[in-house]
Amino acid sequence: MSAGSAFGASGEIENDEGERLQKVLARVGWGSRRECEFLIDQGRVKVNGEVAILGRRVKTQTDKVEVDGVSIGVAPGLVHYLLNKPVDVITTAKDTHGRQTVIELVPLEPRVFPVGRLDADTEGLLIMTNDGELGHRLTHPSFGIEKEYLAHVQCGQNGVSESALKKLREGVELDDGLTSPADVGQLQTGVLRIVIHEGRNRQVRRMCDAVGYPVERLVRVRIGPIIDRTLAPGNWRHLTTNEVVALNQATAN
Ligand code: URA
Repeated sequence: MSAGSAFGASGEIENDEGERLQKVLARVGWGSRRECEFLIDQGRVKVNGEVAILGRRVKTQTDKVEVDGVSIGVAPGLVHYLLNKPVDVITTAKDTHGRQTVIELVPLEPRVFPVGRLDADTEGLLIMTNDGELGHRLTHPSFGIEKEYLAHVQCGQNGVSESALKKLREGVELDDGLTSPADVGQLQTGVLRIVIHEGRNRQVRRMCDAVGYPVERLVRVRIGPIIDRTLAPGNWRHLTTNEVVALNQATAN
């Protein structure tokens, strides 16, 4: 037992600092406090790499909490939104040309930032959060989070050729280098499903340009495990706890 700690009336170990782990876990959506106590009892929760025992307190700003080996953000006030970005809305905090920004489409407080970016003329799913650590992992190339797009391209009635699809799959030479292998299919004539795990500027548009099929409409329909076919353009919702866990899982080392 560390200095300043004592057994409380409930028999749990208490110390002077931090918030009770089961309370913290319940706050971020892992269930009722009882359910969270059960998680801890089962040895599924670690704090700073050590299996936690019931009564453990955590400093939510600095301690690293994991459930089932997956690190989770527990600082109070973390929010995670999923926005369906419409066209002509800019993915920056402020636009010098006075255009609408994604920041204006979600609650102003707490302040959030977009995770990665979509071009003004690209639609679809965008995560916005104040969870800096998760945001960093989602955009860092080393984690290679998949992003899935539907690209409507200009083509003749025969659609996109097999040789162009093959090039898109295997890698296309762009002015900033060869693209990594991608998962590419033609869902219907001129509509491509493209899954990439890089995040270069205007990557999908440039890939399609490079093989001779310019993009007319581009929609992001998936970010790692996150999909939503019902969220209308311009609308946002909170990510569920399960979704946040899935994102953490997808970026676990
Ligand atoms: N690729 C693009 O070309 N544009 C986007 O907005 C995202 C991926």
